[in-house]
Amino acid sequence: MRLIHRQSELILPSEITPREVVEERRDFIRKLALGSIASAGLLEMAGRRAFAQSIGGQGTHLAASANTNYVVMDKKTAYKDATTYNNYYEFGTDKSEPAQTAGSLKTRPWTISIEGLVKKPLVLDLDSLMKLAPMEERIYRLRCVEGWSMVIPWIGFSLSNLIKKVEPTGSAKFIEFTSLADKKQMPGLQSGVLEWPYVEGLRLDEALHPLALLTFGMYGEVLPNQNGAPVRVVLPWKYGFKSAKAIVKIRFTSEQPRTAWNQAAPREYGFYSNVNPEVDHPRWSQSSERRIGEDSFFAKKRKTLMFNGYPEVASLYSGMDLKKYF
Ligand code: MTE
Repeated sequence: MRLIHRQSELILPSEITPREVVEERRDFIRKLALGSIASAGLLEMAGRRAFAQSIGGQGTHLAASANTNYVVMDKKTAYKDATTYNNYYEFGTDKSEPAQTAGSLKTRPWTISIEGLVKKPLVLDLDSLMKLAPMEERIYRLRCVEGWSMVIPWIGFSLSNLIKKVEPTGSAKFIEFTSLADKKQMPGLQSGVLEWPYVEGLRLDEALHPLALLTFGMYGEVLPNQNGAPVRVVLPWKYGFKSAKAIVKIRFTSEQPRTAWNQAAPREYGFYSNVNPEVDHPRWSQSSERRIGEDSFFAKKRKTLMFNGYPEVASLYSGMDLKKYF
């Protein structure tokens, strides 16, 4: 299914670049930045238009500069797969349901409240939030606890930009993310599969790690609703369920937050939930994964990597028994 491009009040139709063109341009820019095409003049020419900021609704172009420190060289997951195979229980438990039912979610106006143990609490509208730092494109692996994975070009900036702005107090040790829970818009809330709203959390030092991405777009566009519009987090070294979608509240706490999946099944879903091939889920192995798009009959499973292949986070957990703190 291809999403219908909704026209934003903020950009003219003539300014909307088709996704394929944007993607092609981004690949070109990335190759330039990586040195495979060596001409600064060409980079400037190709980049000038792509980097012009514009903020629209679902499906509209979202400008960002490629951050070459965060590029996974694996083949990117096809846009169609990433936008039609989703976990988003507020819109149903079947992978195909969010793409069918989330389209009507109203993502504007949207406010996000940043509260709790901070010196400068804030209520921000989406545009102000998006302007806090320059947008970057980062290609991350996403590993779901269910045993599949994708490679997605996300757009956003490090969550640390927002955290520093609100100035956490000395007693803030954790950060809690709350997703929207609106029965009128989210048919999945009728089911008792989870306690709503969807809540996730991190230790404050994890949230400050530069990899933790406050995310507004993917594949050169504003996030499709089924992928967590208008704002979500993406934490690539953790199982996908830690990456809460459609965030309306961020709260700083001294105590470890009670998270939705941990409450639903504490033996199965720990607070940390770092990708770890050595710690099996009680009902299945976590040592390998199926890459979405590579699932032909003959396709081999991939070995799952410690921290999903992001060893730079290891120091956050030094001295911790990761079997106990799974
Ligand atoms: N956030 C909310 N609010 N509700 C959800 O059901 N599912 C999680 C996570 N964030 C979920 C959520 C799970 S299990 C995964 S694997 C990822 O979103 C999937 O993100 P994607 O659909 O963009 O691939």
